[in-house]
Amino acid sequence: MRPCPYAGAIMQITITRPDDWHLHLRDGPEMAAVLPHSARQFARAIVMPNLRPPVTTVAAAGEYRARILAALPDGAAFEPLMTLYLTDSMSPQEVWRAAASGFVRAVKLYPAGATTNSDSGVTDIGRCAAVLAAMEECGLPLLVHGEVTDPAVDVFDREKVFIERVLQPLLLRHAAIRLVFEHITTGDAADFVRACGDNVAATITAHHLLYNRNAIFAGGIRPHHYCLPVLKRERHRQALLQAATSGNPKFFLGTDSAPHSRASKESACGCAGCYTAPAALELYAEAFESMAALDRLEAFASFHGPDFYRLPRNAGQVTLQQEEWLLPAAFAYAGGEPLVPLRAGEPLRWRLLD
Ligand code: NCD
Ligand code: ZN
Repeated sequence: MRPCPYAGAIMQITITRPDDWHLHLRDGPEMAAVLPHSARQFARAIVMPNLRPPVTTVAAAGEYRARILAALPDGAAFEPLMTLYLTDSMSPQEVWRAAASGFVRAVKLYPAGATTNSDSGVTDIGRCAAVLAAMEECGLPLLVHGEVTDPAVDVFDREKVFIERVLQPLLLRHAAIRLVFEHITTGDAADFVRACGDNVAATITAHHLLYNRNAIFAGGIRPHHYCLPVLKRERHRQALLQAATSGNPKFFLGTDSAPHSRASKESACGCAGCYTAPAALELYAEAFESMAALDRLEAFASFHGPDFYRLPRNAGQVTLQQEEWLLPAAFAYAGGEPLVPLRAGEPLRWRLLD
């Protein structure tokens, strides 16, 4: 708390510097545009491998990591934690190389066709049995985009059906695998993760904590609220808020910040993804405040993730101040294209201090 000449006091909270356990940084000029936003907020991030072509080898992950480090603003201390993109043809040797690399921290499972740049993803998880066995043995976590791609399944049910059709059988066959159910969106997923052993955890985004599916259709179609997995109904948002603020170490912060240019969002066939990196912590703080649980934010944002990934917690701290301010309507992106963040031009209740 710090004195304020007007209201008596300005509310501040200081927490251990957080990490983002699910982030899309893209590449080239797009990466250069978005990287400073994440580096300002977070000490480390698990970097998604869904580039074109996808990052499928330790060698490619090493080169991508070097490009990220080279694009960092001067003086920024930010560590990219790299991931490999699982394909039907990945070899168990690649898993062992990843575990030995010291910079590849996980392998990402995208069911083929589930989301942006997932066409090289896994067509049948049964084909990956040897790779999953190697991951069980070496302890490298499997990160899961948990949605079935069966077009006969309603888009709002794809996560729940994925649990039954893919996740439960996978965990029966590979009981010791360390697994993160990424960006969970339903009470079903939160219940499932709670019921699993300590080897299973989940990330939760700020947008799934703050919005339900009405936000996609509020007064007209809202492409900047369209992401995958798609926002769900209010009862699921409430279940996610409960999970995130419960103090259960299985749940931790992963923004899934997924930049797409304005033109590719505001289109007849708009891309999926919410760009939340510029005000990620502010958005999470708002969600935790709504549950009167700001005292639980630090563990969710800064402790549970590194503990699961078996990495040290960060040493530094960041401070959030309660202060209304307007997020810019757009940021510069690649090729002169604007990038519209979630909450563009709208007020935020918290501000991360420099
Ligand atoms: C992500 C993207 O744009 O890369 N989009 C999204 O809606 N979250 C892909 C993903 O994580 O599903
Ligand atoms: Zn993602």
